[in-house]
Amino acid sequence: MAHQSDLIAQDIHAYLKSQEEKDLLRFITCGSVDDGKSTLIGRLLFDSKLIFEDQLAAVTADSKKVGTQGGEIDLALLVDGLQAEREQGITIDVAYRFFSTDKRKFIVADTPGHEQYTRNMATGASTAELAVILIDARKGVLTQTRRHIFIVSLLGLRHVVLAVNKMDLVGWDQGVFDAIVADYREFAKDLGFGEISCIPVSALTGANVFDPAPELTWYQGPTLMHVLETTDVSSDAAAGPFRMPVQWVNRPNLDFRGFAGTIVSGTVRPGDAVVVCPSEKGSMVERIVTFDGDLEVAVAGQSVTLTLADEVDVSRGDIIAASDARPGHTDQFACHLLWMHEEALLPERQYLLKIGARTVTAQVTDLRYKVNVNTMEHVAAKTLELNEVAHCNVALDQPIAFDPYREIRETGAFILINRFTNTTVGVGMIDFALRRATNLTWHELEVDKAVRAGQKNQKPCILWFTGLSGSGKSTAANAVEKKLLAMGRHSYILDGDNVRHGLNKDLGFTDADRVENIRRVAEVSALFADAGLIVLVSFISPFRDERRMAREMVEEGEFIEVFVDTPIELCEQRDPKGLYKKARAGQIKNFTGIDSEYEAPENPEIVLKTAEHTVEALADQVIAYLRENGRI
Ligand code: ADX
Repeated sequence: MAHQSDLIAQDIHAYLKSQEEKDLLRFITCGSVDDGKSTLIGRLLFDSKLIFEDQLAAVTADSKKVGTQGGEIDLALLVDGLQAEREQGITIDVAYRFFSTDKRKFIVADTPGHEQYTRNMATGASTAELAVILIDARKGVLTQTRRHIFIVSLLGLRHVVLAVNKMDLVGWDQGVFDAIVADYREFAKDLGFGEISCIPVSALTGANVFDPAPELTWYQGPTLMHVLETTDVSSDAAAGPFRMPVQWVNRPNLDFRGFAGTIVSGTVRPGDAVVVCPSEKGSMVERIVTFDGDLEVAVAGQSVTLTLADEVDVSRGDIIAASDARPGHTDQFACHLLWMHEEALLPERQYLLKIGARTVTAQVTDLRYKVNVNTMEHVAAKTLELNEVAHCNVALDQPIAFDPYREIRETGAFILINRFTNTTVGVGMIDFALRRATNLTWHELEVDKAVRAGQKNQKPCILWFTGLSGSGKSTAANAVEKKLLAMGRHSYILDGDNVRHGLNKDLGFTDADRVENIRRVAEVSALFADAGLIVLVSFISPFRDERRMAREMVEEGEFIEVFVDTPIELCEQRDPKGLYKKARAGQIKNFTGIDSEYEAPENPEIVLKTAEHTVEALADQVIAYLRENGRI
């Protein structure tokens, strides 16, 4: 396999040209250090002669020091590049490695095998076309193997290769290999993989990696490299219906309006009938413009600019699709979700959902069940923790165009993003649209908020009192309401303890229940504001996400956040209901400020310092704010 280095030395231009023209396979290896994963990747790099002399020298030296091959060269050390990993013998992040042979270029995503790295594996699998699942011949199909297979199927990989490694350590025994293959096929039979190649290998000796081995004459199939070089993945995407998410609208002057993006599925030609989704406006492709001139045809994987025959409205995030094979269109769907963050998923919390180039607001409305990734059992759940997978329903604030993930990955996958920190917290795969609420329409009533408020001669608003238990929220709200009443205003108090006796009596104090508690009271307060009332809400409401949700339910200026800022020591000293004492004694769990978090407001409209002022003065402070801001 000296082809690479010879060509590089003799004719670098010819080398680069040959590289450019080869097609590319992205694959992922699943397994752990013990299975010999790093050794296998090291072997692929080594045998394809893509290791530089100095790297080799370093590895040879290291092999003597920390290698596991008794001074022989330890190929795993090529791959486990990081010092810390070498010493611990584990691989931590997703590492992408590049190598090539005469026939193909490869990018291999090398991800750790342990359960706590499920999210890393999902990241690697999300861009891969093929997975190599590694099994230690001495151990067979383990719980870990089953998890790897499940994640690979969840991420929609259709091409799977089972590499039964360490055949040298089981005496190259065909019986061992056959039993493992049977086990594996039984488990994988319902997971929808197109083809499964099972290959006995020894990454250590190189048997069946690049070349067949004399010890394995009973095996008639291809080598691992042969499968990697010949598996046809190009047809997958090009054969599907045409889809191109619009990355940007290219309008350099008034005469040209093109839509730029990467085709993620199918084929397109000038003259093709297309629709712009989700609006479903129809048109025809006029030109396929590229930097090197117009094309007669373009296929999945190519980045192009399309011009359309009509002046249709197209913006970033829309999908241009084949008119006779349209994507779905929905604001509610069922999906599989893999949670990627230390902070658990809370149903009903608002997240940003990004699908293709489009971002909308989303809530998980129903966590149907979690999947135990080791046993595939369905487990009831209220939240979703890091690395857990669930089947759930999601609702959006506006419709999106999508395809079921099983059909087209690029238009069926999404990520969830925390609205405050902008970090990715989950990845999802859409299963199908839910059409439950599509028969509901919003009734335009003739008597509206302005009429109701006008009758009461006031402007409605929501005074949202937030703070620790015992901070004085209810006391302050009560004093404010008395003053409003005296001024002839119409108001209503929603108080946490009271509402929890009725509407919310099914809810406790877990994070998930508090989110639902606040979601309901936010809805109710918005209805009361719509009735023309001045609403006073007195709930701990510990999470800024849900306070923001409540704010966004009403018009600008109508939501007034009142932070009742009392130090916890003082709340505890007051302890009007004796709850702090109980919480300290461990009799109440999840108590705010003790073993449950309170996220103080960052920009409240009003801060009430109850330690420094009388109730009367605090109520006056609120009334003064309402006057100054024209609310009363
Ligand atoms: S919230 O966090 O979901 O907004 P809410 O304001 O409805 O809480 O209810 C808080 C009231 O419930 C407290 O004032 C207290 O009387 C009572 N309570 C009982 N258990 C807890 C607890 N674990 N944490 C906080 N408050 C509790």
